[in-house]
Amino acid sequence: MSEKWIFNDIEKILVSEDRIKERVCELAAAIKSDYKDRDILMVGILNGAVCFYVDLIKELDLYLEMNFMRVSSYGVGTSTTGEIRIMYDLEVPLTGKDVLIVEDIIDSGVTMLNLKKLLLNRGAASVKSCVLLDKPSRRVVDVDADYVGFKIPDEFVVGYGLDYAGKYRNLKFIGTLKPEIYMND
Ligand code: IMP
Ligand code: MG
Repeated sequence: MSEKWIFNDIEKILVSEDRIKERVCELAAAIKSDYKDRDILMVGILNGAVCFYVDLIKELDLYLEMNFMRVSSYGVGTSTTGEIRIMYDLEVPLTGKDVLIVEDIIDSGVTMLNLKKLLLNRGAASVKSCVLLDKPSRRVVDVDADYVGFKIPDEFVVGYGLDYAGKYRNLKFIGTLKPEIYMND
């Protein structure tokens, strides 16, 4: 009834809570079989990857290390590859480590491409990526994720870590917002 009820803002659900849970287990199984004899450094990208990261590591019975980064993308703008700014950095050396970047979504690809380059330059033995969502039609640079939860169309989505104006990250599903939510800004 309340006007401020969060579900009132949702237009449609794109990926349900059950489907997310199922897919997280499938991704964990693939990662486990690929990394079975190796230790992984799981690099979570704040804030968007938090829900996905926490659920994923709980399904991974491997020796793994947790660390986080927060980056912001300058977008593509003037240069062809864009750039990223590091707002919060890793606390561990990467030399010789097998790194798995865990990110909420790969959109233009600018963030992922630059992150991969950066972590390889710091001496990681390997850098792979696992993303919950992929919008392939939006790509402007040549990069793909190694593990993808769901490919989605070019629609702005929120929930399960993804935000609009800092909100909606706590939803258990992935959905789109009603158009009036954007118009009120
Ligand atoms: P990229 O560098 O363009 O691939 O941007 C990836 C970042 O853009 C993600 O980490 C998200 O923070 C943000 N982003 C892209 N699409 C969406 C969306 O549909 N909802 C929420 N955030 C998004
Ligand atoms: Mg993000």
